[in-house]
Amino acid sequence: MVGRIEDDPVVKVEDLSVRFGDFTAVDGVSFEVYRGEIFGFLGPNGAGKTTTIRTITTIQKPSGGKVLIDGHDISDDFIEARKRIGIAQQHISLDVELTVRQNLIHHAMLHKIPKKDMERIIKEKSELLELGDYMDRKAEKLSGGWKRKASIVCAILHEPTVLFLDEPTAGLDTHSRHLLWDLIRNLNASGTTIFLTTHYIEEAESLCDRVAIIDHGRLLKTGSPEELEQEIGPVTVEDAETGNCVQFPDMDAANDYAASLGGRYHTIRRTTLEYVFLAHTGY
Ligand SMILES: Nc1ncnc2c1ncn2[C@@H]1O[C@H](COP(=O)(O)OP(=O)(O)OP(=O)(O)O)[C@@H](O)[C@H]1O
Ligand SMILES: [Mg+2]
Repeated sequence: MVGRIEDDPVVKVEDLSVRFGDFTAVDGVSFEVYRGEIFGFLGPNGAGKTTTIRTITTIQKPSGGKVLIDGHDISDDFIEARKRIGIAQQHISLDVELTVRQNLIHHAMLHKIPKKDMERIIKEKSELLELGDYMDRKAEKLSGGWKRKASIVCAILHEPTVLFLDEPTAGLDTHSRHLLWDLIRNLNASGTTIFLTTHYIEEAESLCDRVAIIDHGRLLKTGSPEELEQEIGPVTVEDAETGNCVQFPDMDAANDYAASLGGRYHTIRRTTLEYVFLAHTGY
């Protein structure tokens, strides 16, 4: 991360709600993503992560609330907001009738990349995820992982101010996952703000400056992994028989509790973000 600026949010979400009929998928959510940070959105299936991202990125209409992208309101300053956004959706939105190269050209045109730069930019960005051999294949013929990589390259062509990646590593093999982590870190190091979701909590812990935990459409917690771990207690005792996890402020307190388990098998570990997630969502 290069110089996170806390009083300079690139994404500002205020009291955002999204309803589908009488079901509320996003329920009065407020948070900020600071310029230059990697921000992770964590939550169980159906928590409202994708709906929130689709709404912030102007794909889904909000039912209430306000979203500013780099100071531009997505409802009345749509064009300026949209220019600054890159989005790779969870449900990949390539044009399956087109080749990877044609999809990339289409995105480049949508984002008004000058014709004279297009070929060079497409070549440079597609090399970052090693799309080379797949550039002239029809998108419909690609495996899930290659589709995902192509959709991520589409999202970064215009060098967005803030890049939204909804479960970008889902379905990627180990090599591709490492390529993508490098890409995320490099983009971030050169100033791109990143907003990602993932079900791999360890991935969030290693990549993210701050995370938000969402469940049932409501934001439960926001903070750095370290802050959230300290808040519930930095030492965890896990009862192997019941699976019950309890946090403590220090080893002495953890050892006292472990002794009270009456010889039941247990482990004592540093509290990780995984335990924070479990403590707040119950999953
Ligand atoms: N277009 C829609 N119409 C009706 N309900 C919807 C629609 N889109 C999402 N939902 C519902 O909104 C809730 C939140 O869905 P969302 O896709 O945002 O969850 P998520 O946190 O991204 O989950 P996952 O981890 O499975 O991707 C779910 O209950 C889902 O069924
Ligand atoms: Mg989702």
